[in-house]
Amino acid sequence: MVDIKISASILNSDFAFLADEIKKVERAGAEMLHIDVMDGMFVPDISIGPPVVKCIRKNTGLFLDVHLMTKQPDRMLDSFIESGADSLNVHVEECTHLDRTLHYIKDAGKKAAVALNPSTPVSTIENVLGVVDMILIMTVNPGYGGQGFIKDMTYKIRKLKGLIEDYKRSTGRMDKRIDIQVDGGINLETAPLAAGAGANILVAGSSIFGAEDPVDFVKKLRKSAVAAI
Ligand code: DX5
Ligand code: ZN
Repeated sequence: MVDIKISASILNSDFAFLADEIKKVERAGAEMLHIDVMDGMFVPDISIGPPVVKCIRKNTGLFLDVHLMTKQPDRMLDSFIESGADSLNVHVEECTHLDRTLHYIKDAGKKAAVALNPSTPVSTIENVLGVVDMILIMTVNPGYGGQGFIKDMTYKIRKLKGLIEDYKRSTGRMDKRIDIQVDGGINLETAPLAAGAGANILVAGSSIFGAEDPVDFVKKLRKSAVAAI
């Protein structure tokens, strides 16, 4: 059974009508909501924080995946855990004690995820595969919606997929599940490239919120990805 999940990134939604925007992607069949938190330091812009996540939580049953594009994400874990997020994505570039951070998230009952900038090699997370639930491969440089997919990231996704398989074989943990997410520039042309390389969670922002018919778009996006596996 092929398992492709669509995660709608709200960064490019109309924040003045956020509840409606969320309903729209929920009805369209997205399984997850991707919430980009930007601190004006790790990336230039500032977006939203825990109070907004709390309000979103009250309004949707979708899985809430929080992408912390922030400096020192450890400082804000508690607030986001309390906000009702389902998973927390920390950037490996900002975590000196990544193993400890991921355990902290899991001990709080949340899914632990780690994000990698395009220039960050997969070797940086090789030694936390035993604890991590999801790995987010940035397919654009973080900070803005609407950028173009970096095609060479397919090489990185394949490498990561191989690393995970190798980890499972060598530790005998064949049932260990690690999702591979891609974030940035995902549309009908790039989703097959990412899925074909091994990604199973597709984060889509401007393509989904800009679609004339989001129901039709999500269907097509999923179909294009499944066909490439
Ligand atoms: C980029 C963000 C993404 C972004 C994706 O820094 O992390 O989640 O919103 O938007 P699109 O799909 O438009 O590239
Ligand atoms: Zn993101």
